[in-house]
Amino acid sequence: MEIIDSRIDKTSDEYKANYEQMEQKVAELKAELKRAREERSDKAIKRNAELGKLTVQGRLDRLLDRNSPWLEIAPLAARGMYDGKVHGAGSRIGIGLVHGREIFVHANDPMIKGGTVYPMGVKKALRGQTIVMENHLPAISLVDSGGAFLPLQAEIFPDVDDGGRTFYNQALMSKMNIPQICAVMGLCTAGGAYVPAMSDHVVHVNRTGAIFLGGPPLVKAATGEDVTAEELGGAMVHCRESGVSDYFAEDDEHAIDILRNIVAMLPPKEKARVPRRAPEDPLYDPKEIYGIVPQSISKPYDVREVIARMVDGSEFLEFKALYGPTLVCGWGYIHGYQVGILGNNGVLFSESALKATQFISLCDRQGIPLIFLQNISGYMVGREYERGGITKDGHKMVHVVSTATVPKFTVIIGASFGAGNYGMCGRAYSPRFLWMWPNSQIGVMGGEQAADVLVTVKNDQLAREGQPPLPPEMVEQMKQPIIQAALQQGDAWYSTSQLWDDGILDPAMTRDALGLAISASLNAPLEDRNQGHGVFRM
Ligand code: COA
Repeated sequence: MEIIDSRIDKTSDEYKANYEQMEQKVAELKAELKRAREERSDKAIKRNAELGKLTVQGRLDRLLDRNSPWLEIAPLAARGMYDGKVHGAGSRIGIGLVHGREIFVHANDPMIKGGTVYPMGVKKALRGQTIVMENHLPAISLVDSGGAFLPLQAEIFPDVDDGGRTFYNQALMSKMNIPQICAVMGLCTAGGAYVPAMSDHVVHVNRTGAIFLGGPPLVKAATGEDVTAEELGGAMVHCRESGVSDYFAEDDEHAIDILRNIVAMLPPKEKARVPRRAPEDPLYDPKEIYGIVPQSISKPYDVREVIARMVDGSEFLEFKALYGPTLVCGWGYIHGYQVGILGNNGVLFSESALKATQFISLCDRQGIPLIFLQNISGYMVGREYERGGITKDGHKMVHVVSTATVPKFTVIIGASFGAGNYGMCGRAYSPRFLWMWPNSQIGVMGGEQAADVLVTVKNDQLAREGQPPLPPEMVEQMKQPIIQAALQQGDAWYSTSQLWDDGILDPAMTRDALGLAISASLNAPLEDRNQGHGVFRM
């Protein structure tokens, strides 16, 4: 394979300015991640210590193999929402190694409002279960939760994608033969009682862990009975009398040791096979991506420079290099796994869409995972392109992205606008994982364009009524809030707080995240590749 020949001038002012700006964004990201992991009230810290519990970080550290990689998902979900302190939507989720086996972990954080579940916490739990089901990963739950955050119960409870769905999914996961292991390390109240009840293995911590459908306050209100949490649903009750729990643990440490022993006893599983070779570092330093990515998302640059810093040995076999050049397609290896990469190099034309359709079909047939590097303002618009059938060619790309069955992974490395988001495997197209870079922007269209569209619509309306167009000051008045909203709701921080992605990535770490994600995805068998596609509009 050919080595990509980088043309970057690392001494240029532009490179240095880009580098500085991205470095600053990554520093902000790291600071936010630290805050989300560590900022807890003194009251909560004291209470956790009084109860003799480990912190969530302490639990994860003891559960996961020492010095092993941990791929955390959505650590900044709910950032800036509620009172601004429901870090990570009140839970930590991710994929890590236990006895060398890839395991999905969900842990409530009892130091954030008693581990209660906010609406975004439900969304995060459901995202976690999607990851478990799509990738067939054994799942461990570290439950320590006061249940639904009651002031917002209407947003959590009854709908199809609300709390009840998590237990429905647990039944489906069981039917799919996905092991589910639960440690009761605090309260499992009301609906929460079904987390252990629907699991295959339940470890129960003495004194701090309790499972009940109605807690002591509810029992008192309903029946007048005075009962403590431990008498109602403690480890002694459930390990000795009810049989709800399977393993009795003295404390958090003991429970986690039991969890590790359970994982060690799981039957071994063959992973799906995809083409592989020995892993190799890229020839160019991934951190140089900082200097390559322009400060403005509207400034073009060559995505091959990014690919060169992502693939093993910086080697890349480009497909149809001269045809549809605004989309770069080709094969390379990431941490030894062969992948098909699609990266935007400008707006999508008919040719680029047709090239993508052929390339995705090829990878799908050959069982090669797909990586989408999104930096896309959309498909080309205008009379000439409509006549050329841009819509039907775009449809072929969107169609094949939807029906391809190989694992897909998306990184939004710049712009993600309009149908370009769809064709390049946005969240709705079920990539196994999707991340954003700190510089990226997402939306139906840019704020300026959206504002211009609305001004044009208004002026057309006025013209129909025989009135003059809006004066310049009214145009500005109309445009500003739209531009501001698009800016605020279109950045990576907003996206990640809404759980539109699995997290914001340091560009230099992207290759490692992809390597871990590809490896995790291979726990699920590759689907039958001869299923083909639906009908293409020709
Ligand atoms: N909804 C909203 N807030 C809740 C809550 C709930 N279900 N459960 C606890 N909280 C809040 C508390 O008001 C407190 O808020 P504050 O820090 O602003 O004062 C915070 O969570 C911590 O609760 P606290 O009771 O001080 O901590 P704790 O460690 O002693 O106990 C629980 C935590 C979860 C065991 C205990 O709060 C509890 O039993 N909650 C009710 C559980 C329940 O019956 N849930 C039913 C919902 S389905």
